[in-house]
Amino acid sequence: MPRSLCQITDLTASEVREVFDLCRQMKAGEIKPKPLEGKSVACIFTKPSLRTRVSFEVGISELGGQALYVTDSEIQLGKRESIADAARVLSRYVGLIMIRTFQQSDVEELARYASIPVVNGLTDLVHPCQILGDYFTIVEHLGQRDRYRIAYLGDGNNVTNSWLNLASLIPVDLRIGTTGDCRPDPQITERAGQNPASSVLLTDDPKEAVADADVLYTDVWASMGQKHLAEEKERKLERFQVNSSLLGQANPGAIVMHCLPAHRGREITDDVMDGPQSVVFDQAENRLHIQKAIMTFLLKQA
Ligand code: CP
Ligand code: NVA
Repeated sequence: MPRSLCQITDLTASEVREVFDLCRQMKAGEIKPKPLEGKSVACIFTKPSLRTRVSFEVGISELGGQALYVTDSEIQLGKRESIADAARVLSRYVGLIMIRTFQQSDVEELARYASIPVVNGLTDLVHPCQILGDYFTIVEHLGQRDRYRIAYLGDGNNVTNSWLNLASLIPVDLRIGTTGDCRPDPQITERAGQNPASSVLLTDDPKEAVADADVLYTDVWASMGQKHLAEEKERKLERFQVNSSLLGQANPGAIVMHCLPAHRGREITDDVMDGPQSVVFDQAENRLHIQKAIMTFLLKQA
């Protein structure tokens, strides 16, 4: 059975550390693996993308392979033919599939029937490559520690769920400032709470969320596919805006993170995003390195 990354919990804690180690070695230029030499990778997109598309295409090329950009309007996954048949066909042509789409179950079905690794490039439920890259960025900036206090402010979405997934594997002190029906997935939250090495707090008080935080993290209030909810989410979440006043309540050396794209002036202000504590573009860069490490790790297991 090939290994896939449908969500972070498809890996064990020691495999997550192995991926970080590979990422560090690749970024430092200590190793230059070419596991995709002579192979192609299908990159399927049902939603728009800048970072995921470009960082995967560049990463695939640096690993010796060729990226094929495939839009869902072309293949119509699950409509023109079953997801299982599409998985079987793609497995005859390419060495790996990367997919960004709406339903997590579609990614899992693709992985179940493919005989090659499948990597989730974002669904409504999770965004695993983003959070693996972001944790790597935190270690780069704050140095190796047993646990970081991460304050996530805003909508409890795919990015929040992936933070919770990581917390269920490795020690994370996660404080989520959000409210009502913007809370993250309850099952994923419960699973994270079962890791005795992690701590998970959900609060509707933004100041409680950021107290003593090492990292302030935010994301758009209305994710892709939810733009019709934008005004409603803005009303509910405006108290959680990452601005200089909220940043002042965190640890003095705290870093500010956003997976991007950002809606400046809504979930984050310009002065904070462009300020000295912001590491948002390092995060964007590390998507490239972490995805190369993820693909190399999965292909090694196949
Ligand atoms: N952060 C991220 O996944 O960006 P894109 O939506 O541009 O790929
Ligand atoms: N939560 C955002 C992340 C974008 C990278 C979305 O799903 O639109």
